[in-house]
Amino acid sequence: MSHPTLLVTGAAGHLGRAVVELLLGAGQRVIAGTRDPSRVADLASKGAVVRKLDLDDPDTLPDAFLGVDRVLLVSTDRVGSRVQQHKNGITAAARAGVRHIAYTSLLGAPRSSVGLAPEHVATERALAESGVGYTALRNSVYADLLIQSLQGAVASGQLVTARGQGGVSYITREDCARAAAAALSSTFEGTRELELTGPEALTGDDLAQIASALTGRPVRHVSVPVSALVEGMVAHGLPEPVAEIYASFDTAAADGELAVVTPTFRELVGRPPQSVRDFLRSRLS
Ligand SMILES: NC(=O)c1ccc[n+]([C@@H]2O[C@H](COP(=O)([O-])OP(=O)(O)OC[C@H]3O[C@@H](n4cnc5c(N)ncnc54)[C@H](OP(=O)(O)O)[C@@H]3O)[C@@H](O)[C@H]2O)c1
Repeated sequence: MSHPTLLVTGAAGHLGRAVVELLLGAGQRVIAGTRDPSRVADLASKGAVVRKLDLDDPDTLPDAFLGVDRVLLVSTDRVGSRVQQHKNGITAAARAGVRHIAYTSLLGAPRSSVGLAPEHVATERALAESGVGYTALRNSVYADLLIQSLQGAVASGQLVTARGQGGVSYITREDCARAAAAALSSTFEGTRELELTGPEALTGDDLAQIASALTGRPVRHVSVPVSALVEGMVAHGLPEPVAEIYASFDTAAADGELAVVTPTFRELVGRPPQSVRDFLRSRLS
């Protein structure tokens, strides 16, 4: 297949948009699928074909996947409703003759205690049962999520976690996009699970030290019991179920689940992933 037709779902989201741009930059034929085509007019002007695609509306899917060879199924942000959404996409892609589906999953999904893991595991199972080739892109935690939390830590002088000395192998969202673009534009047709991590696992102490070094302000890491972390988030207005999900990342980190570092990003993309320190350098002030 010399010129496959590639489709990215969720093209108006941060990751989907970045993948479409990378593929266009590499001269690929790309379809940007989104619930709201008006939000990706800029991608159309750069050469993407735009199609309406709503995983909640199966009627949009046959036309969206028509003539498509390979799909990036971006996991949606509708926590709690995602399995059905993703299954709708997988079923429609299989019916349309799509040959390969890349899906944005979670680091170590089958063994993960993170509260979001069951939806990813169920989606990976649906992929395995679909008969279509697939790549599960098991992304570690976005480094991008650190910007807000470390800005708060710099302001207060304290980075509060429930991680103890557990580390997290953060990867930037841009690197997740690079990995997704590489998987989508590759000729791989089988089934695989790729654990995608940044170059190192960083503890709360490491993050506090990086934030201090980049800003010149003192930041101390304070590890509290997970119940106190949840109480703090609820006191700041987060609904308790959401706070529990955030806190589950800390519990998983404390147990060492998120400290896994793999060479997979470099093997797939051909260059090393960006470090958290380099990523934050221009973003933390
Ligand atoms: N690894 C991590 O640390 C991490 C962190 C945050 C999120 N995530 C996951 O990675 C995904 C991509 O991240 P992001 O930063 O790009 O998130 P984002 O900017 O919040 O984007 C949300 C995505 O959900 C899509 N979506 C929502 N409802 C949909 C529906 N009914 N049908 C099709 N698509 C739907 C949106 O697509 P359109 O608006 O284009 O329709 C958009 O691509 C997230 O949705 C989430 O599952 C991972």
